[in-house]
Amino acid sequence: MTRVVYIEYSGNRIEADVAAGLSVMEGARVNNVAGIEAECGGSCSCSTCHVYVDPAWIDRLPAKLPMEEDILELAHEPDPALSRLSCQIEISDDLDGLTVRIPAR
Ligand code: FES
Repeated sequence: MTRVVYIEYSGNRIEADVAAGLSVMEGARVNNVAGIEAECGGSCSCSTCHVYVDPAWIDRLPAKLPMEEDILELAHEPDPALSRLSCQIEISDDLDGLTVRIPAR
């Protein structure tokens, strides 16, 4: 299990143990994190799983694919430096402590 820290828009902090192989989005859903709607179910086509990755972690994630870049443009107030689609981040042991913030919508 890998510890992922989700910070909801309200400021509520949820520290969740997420199995390797799941996405950050799937980890949010099974731990009832508010604000991750994931309408497309993880197929990189809706942007409702948008998160802001903690600056300390952003360079430790695999690079975005062009499709993720395109869909992020549809997100509410994306941050070019910190925004990711949580369905496109696969949990691995290397990400223990990964911290993401959930946007307003
Ligand atoms: Fe739809 Fe991530 S769940 S883009």
